Amino acid sequence: MTLGRKGRRRAPDVDLSVSLGALQLPNPIIAASGTFGHGAELAALCDPGAIGAVTTKSVAVFASEGNPPLRVAEAPGGGMINSVGLPGPGVDAWIAHDLPALEARGARVIASIWGRTVADYEAAARALKNVAHRVIAIEVNLSCPNVEARAQVFAHAPETTRDATNAVVDALGGAAPVFAKLSPNVTDLVAIAGAALDAGADGLTLVNTVMGLVIDAQARAPRLGAGGGGVSGPPIHPVALRAVWEVSRAYPGVPIIGTGGVSTGEDAVEMLLAGASAVGVGTATFLDPRATLRIVEELGAWCAQNDVARVRDLIAGLGADGLGENRLGENRLGENRLAGDRLTEDRSGGQIQ
Ligand SMILES: Cc1cc2nc3c(=O)[nH]c(=O)nc-3n(C[C@H](O)[C@H](O)[C@H](O)COP(=O)(O)O)c2cc1C
Repeated sequence: MTLGRKGRRRAPDVDLSVSLGALQLPNPIIAASGTFGHGAELAALCDPGAIGAVTTKSVAVFASEGNPPLRVAEAPGGGMINSVGLPGPGVDAWIAHDLPALEARGARVIASIWGRTVADYEAAARALKNVAHRVIAIEVNLSCPNVEARAQVFAHAPETTRDATNAVVDALGGAAPVFAKLSPNVTDLVAIAGAALDAGADGLTLVNTVMGLVIDAQARAPRLGAGGGGVSGPPIHPVALRAVWEVSRAYPGVPIIGTGGVSTGEDAVEMLLAGASAVGVGTATFLDPRATLRIVEELGAWCAQNDVARVRDLIAGLGADGLGENRLGENRLGENRLAGDRLTEDRSGGQIQ
């Protein structure tokens, strides 16, 4: 072990490697789907081979146009709202033109797929089966309207989550691990995560964007062309942490890619402590194209400063009961109470004021 001047470990000595089930990654930082292009667009600015993995923009079995402009706008609190509508060239074109560019840069590729029907998911997975040895996993983006069920989003119900995930798992026949990417816009995420795991998912990606709306008051109109959109970036970090925390405690040991509002190394530490085995970074890349690499560096520095020799030791590291130091209902919370305020707890440790 190399020691710095104060006897602390220097960042290069920190072991950043993590396992996501059977997958081994050199570090836990993964570019989130839709925020790192389809292929190697960002490669000149940020070496895709130096981060844990790159999840590609979701592709369907068909080519798709996406939504009308404006597709992306700022959201309060340093966030972003988008309704891009999943434009893309289709899975065959992606395999022909985009995958080779990422492979050439040494990226570990997670291919993301979407569909409008269960059959679409199955067809996209079948197309990817032939190249399964060239990707490390398939991510199933379930935040898509199901045209066979009054446009209800697949990830908003356990049954449709199960059906679409199962179709992908069956079509791949074990050729690649499957990660189901779930939506935070639900009341019982644990039940929906359970449905994805029952259907054979090897792991989960938590979470996609939070449903929202931004309004241009002068124009008296929504800012986005499609009306509502999905909020991402720092404002959703606590939402994502809670999703990861609840699901990881319900299904200990299930690999989770914790995603939502991570823009610093310390945000990534929090995601690992909540129970994620790897950390997705999305919106931060729009602000700083090198964000994923910077977060790898900051994570290493945080570990070195805090005498953490192996980053994997942070995973689900909040303590035996999951509440750690900041135990709700004990003195710390009590000390912060203002006279006259009434704070109660919900069953899973949240505060209801
Ligand atoms: C512009 C934009 C496009 C996105 N496209 C996709 C997509 O194609 N598939 C998907 O599963 N998630 C997509 N996402 C969601 C992100 O992968 C991520 O789950 C979400 O933004 C939360 O992470 P963040 O706060 O770090 O951005 C997109 C997000 C943004 C901002």
